[in-house]
Amino acid sequence: MESVPNYDQRHSPIEMSSDQFRAVGYQLIDRIAGLLDSLPQRPVSPGQSASTVRQILDSERPLPSQGADAASLLDHAADLLFEHSLFNGHPRFWGYVTSSAAPIGALADLLAAAVNPNVGAWPLSPMASEIEAQTIRWVAELLRYPSQCGGLFVSGGNMANLVCFLAARQAKAGYDLRVEGIHGPKLRVYCSKETHTWVQKAADICGLGTDSIRWLPVDPDQRLDTAALKQQIALDIASGDKPFLVVGNAGAVSTGAIDPLPDMAAICRQHDLWFHVDGAYGGLAAMLPNAPADLVGLREADSIAVDPHKWLYAPLEAGCALVRDQQHLRNAFAYHPPYYHFGVEATNYFDLGPQNSRGFRALKVWLALQQVGRDGYEQMLADDIRLSQQLFKEISKHGELEALTQSLSIATFRYVPSDLRSANDATERYLNDLNSELLTRLQSSGEAYVSNAMVHGKFALRACIVNFRTALEDVLALPPLVLRLGHEADQALRPANLQTAKA
Ligand SMILES: Cc1ncc(COP(=O)(O)O)c(C=O)c1O
Repeated sequence: MESVPNYDQRHSPIEMSSDQFRAVGYQLIDRIAGLLDSLPQRPVSPGQSASTVRQILDSERPLPSQGADAASLLDHAADLLFEHSLFNGHPRFWGYVTSSAAPIGALADLLAAAVNPNVGAWPLSPMASEIEAQTIRWVAELLRYPSQCGGLFVSGGNMANLVCFLAARQAKAGYDLRVEGIHGPKLRVYCSKETHTWVQKAADICGLGTDSIRWLPVDPDQRLDTAALKQQIALDIASGDKPFLVVGNAGAVSTGAIDPLPDMAAICRQHDLWFHVDGAYGGLAAMLPNAPADLVGLREADSIAVDPHKWLYAPLEAGCALVRDQQHLRNAFAYHPPYYHFGVEATNYFDLGPQNSRGFRALKVWLALQQVGRDGYEQMLADDIRLSQQLFKEISKHGELEALTQSLSIATFRYVPSDLRSANDATERYLNDLNSELLTRLQSSGEAYVSNAMVHGKFALRACIVNFRTALEDVLALPPLVLRLGHEADQALRPANLQTAKA
């Protein structure tokens, strides 16, 4: 007969004694503190190939059948990550829209994981659910959006925009699309051609197809052309389609351009369309006392996506969807299966979004908001913007750097050797290749990190400062670095037959 295990003395290999947890945890915290101290001395990016990283990891190693000591495993993991990571917390990281992460956020994630509330349902996370609700209200307050709005934390900007897209689809389709599926006239979405690719994923995932998107032209400052918006809506209505959603950018991904949001809101009111603002990058700058009127216009939106893991400096992941009328989120997401026994007197977050079980993303945002307060955030965002403006000014001083755009905390520019300043098609093509090569060299140099944008057909380098560690000396170091690497790339790349200004 099989012997019955004695569960009084159960030994689970994954358990840790509190003494062991304390010892291992303190050791890890010491190592992380050391990493933070050493960031400015480290390369921003390791500049290693995928095959080198795989080799260092020993990626072909089979799954171990026997367990190992937790302290040495964590130590090894820290070694691997500290020596072979790109550090977006480095003062000279300005790529994409990825912020340096607030240290309190790292501690918050540890605390959240330790308590492990399931913030899908209130009874499974009483305090965590209430903290999420308070944090949503505070984020709305920062933007001066109605604080009784609905909202929830999701993984990032794509998901926050998708949640709002789904709310808009259900609200404006004119029938119960969740039950019936899509039918009838073609649903139409309007946005500028500078809009982030999330809108394609959303149209695709939501069953509309990417053909439903009307990509509208922009003005020379990359802002949506409202005359084109009005015209396209009229044309679509005339041909029997159903416009339902207009998307405005509060800081477009490439250049930080801010669409004319108040004008777009007025057009939406006129045609009874849902007005959504993608503020994943720049929406939070609406908190600044001197925010431009076009940006402040996000307060008129039916929904807004903002990204605490961008300009609130939360560690990944933390996106946030805000919807003026919470009922629209319930209409878009709620189901009540018989196996759930959750009251409705408080918010059950599975009713407001696509997730069921949910982690406690709000905690890191809630703690950081209190650590620095509104004033602290205003100061840090204003500093990022001022540093970007300063960078743009510095770039403009150099004859071989062409300053292209500056908005919010994004500056775009490119390297143009002095003998290639008078452009023709061949030199423009070469300048695009040259700047693309320069970007590769810059990103693997470890000295600083920027990304790229296409600005009116020009391949541009793009520095986006959402980094509370960046100081003036960091910004001043970029132009000489770009000039040096640009010169080297030009020497390696220039075709013999390219016409120069002198030729
Ligand atoms: C304007 C904008 N929208 C959406 C996104 C997508 O955000 P995430 O990468 O957090 O999904 C980004 C990312 O940079 C963005 O800049």
